[in-house]
Amino acid sequence: MTAPVLEIHLSASAAADALHHDARVGLVADPKWLPPKWFYDARGSELFEQITTLPEYYPTRTERELLRRTVRTIAARAAVGTLVELGSGSAEKTRVLLDALTATGSLRRFVPLDVSESVVRATMAAVAREYLELTVHGVVGDFTQHLEVLPADQDGRRLVAFLGGTIGNLLPEERAGFFTALRAALEPGELLLLGAGLVTDPAVMVPAYDDATGVTAEFNRNVLRVLNRELGADFEVDAFDHVAVWDATHEWIEMRLRARRAMTVRLPAVGMTVHYAEGEEMRTEVSGKFRREGLGTELTTAGFTDQVWWTDPDDRFALVLAAAAW
Ligand code: AVJ
Repeated sequence: MTAPVLEIHLSASAAADALHHDARVGLVADPKWLPPKWFYDARGSELFEQITTLPEYYPTRTERELLRRTVRTIAARAAVGTLVELGSGSAEKTRVLLDALTATGSLRRFVPLDVSESVVRATMAAVAREYLELTVHGVVGDFTQHLEVLPADQDGRRLVAFLGGTIGNLLPEERAGFFTALRAALEPGELLLLGAGLVTDPAVMVPAYDDATGVTAEFNRNVLRVLNRELGADFEVDAFDHVAVWDATHEWIEMRLRARRAMTVRLPAVGMTVHYAEGEEMRTEVSGKFRREGLGTELTTAGFTDQVWWTDPDDRFALVLAAAAW
């Protein structure tokens, strides 16, 4: 391997600008909302890792099991030189892919991309330690903005993994833009491996976002801690209740924070004062669930072809392998 590389495309000041922008847009909207990417500071990333081990949170273990079942097929089709992972987090499930792709001998490089620099650094260090044959090239970036700077593979193809159902955190329009931008960033024949949650029983989906021990509630409220720290805001974090609902029209789980009483919050860094009515709900995340036909069509429209689909026995989660069209 060659020495690890870390590229920072989301500088601290660019991230601050983006957060300022999102607060200015979302906190004056009616209803108020914030994009889910602001959950993921070091503490939020840690809380998310805890969520993935909860009995109610089926997506992670379902996807891991699917990956285990399918990696050999994926590795046989995908003799790739580079594995890119968008929103890698700790890349814990990705080990299953790394094992299979290094076993075939083609893989030379792993590129984790995440918004959190501490997370990228930790993932780089762990993967470099466990896979001595790989070069690790970390990218601190936002997968809705920095796809065009993904390192190319000079003499091989890339496989871009976008796992965990994170695709569902984009709003439909953002999602269409993302697929198109990703297709444009790839060479024909390069591959996408997408993990997506499927529409299933609300009695299964809702508890996954509203666990009995309250880890998801803490994760949700963490966005207020981020605003307090980054914008000098004075949210009283414990005065907001966690809400998770299934929106059958949009087919997404929506997480909200509900003000327990009327509050006035100051956000000095953006020069704002924001009022919450008692019971007012602010949207902090959508987590879209998909149907095969709809998602398949979205991928085809964006220029992804030769789709191979795998689903778990309960039809709760799907993996799709698709190629950038010629
Ligand atoms: C980051 C997409 C995997 O939407 O299921 C977990 C984030 N939010 N619990 C999801 C999340 C609440 C998660 N992903």
